[in-house]
Amino acid sequence: MKNTVVTFQEAKQKGEKLSMLTAYDYSTAKLIDEAGINGILVGDSLGNVILGYENTLSVTMEDMIHHSAAVSRGITDTLLVTDMPFMSYQTSVYDAVVNAGRLVKEGHAHAVKLEGGKEVCPQIKAIVDASIPVCAHLGLTPQSVNAFGGFRVQGKGEEAAQKILDEARAVEEAGAFAVVLECVPQALAAKITESIGIPTIGIGAGAGCDGQILVYQDMLAMYSNMKPKFVKQFGQIGEQMKAAFQEYKKEVEEGTYPAEEHTFKMDETLLDKLY
Ligand code: KIV
Repeated sequence: MKNTVVTFQEAKQKGEKLSMLTAYDYSTAKLIDEAGINGILVGDSLGNVILGYENTLSVTMEDMIHHSAAVSRGITDTLLVTDMPFMSYQTSVYDAVVNAGRLVKEGHAHAVKLEGGKEVCPQIKAIVDASIPVCAHLGLTPQSVNAFGGFRVQGKGEEAAQKILDEARAVEEAGAFAVVLECVPQALAAKITESIGIPTIGIGAGAGCDGQILVYQDMLAMYSNMKPKFVKQFGQIGEQMKAAFQEYKKEVEEGTYPAEEHTFKMDETLLDKLY
């Protein structure tokens, strides 16, 4: 079944859970699409897991377009949401619409995601008015890491919790079709989920959300720099990859790879004619 922003909204109405994963390349996107996952996010987490930066702040529009376009070639049924990188929308409503347009035209995204609440509602409204669906992102918004003073759970106290609930209502009002809730207490995420009409997609926000998203390197144990509490490792692919790389090195060194079945043949009498 083809996933669209409309099927996302229908899923919420029917009480059906939505699954999303990040992807940054063609072959991973193809596997995720074949697995029937509802949505792929080309997250600016590519700064961490693909480009090796400490945070997402250095990621550019060109990075996002390049990876989004690669992912788009691997999918048929999955909804493709692409992150707007740091400073591609905060600067002005005009910049936000132009850059969202580039992610759709050049990155072939079906929708864009941006971080923030009331302060970015004019941008959300303008992008939606340009017929580009927007997913909002509240709670721990990694582009604000310097303002937060680090990566920590958001919305634990009454004032902070009320602010996130108000922001969820505001981004819905501005026209967002969904909202990611990152690293907020489970009970707050559940309260937000029942208080708004658009799907909530949780990451570190408990099972009360309408859907879940994970960075695929985290859930496959391929990224060892950190393991947040909310991550469940559904496979040990990092260890399997390392073991395969080591086996390859060993066989190359021993001369057992390539074997006969990996080689191409010719009439070897021809070799005598070579000089
Ligand atoms: O960039 C990203 O991967 C994200 C998810 C963590 C939601 O924004």
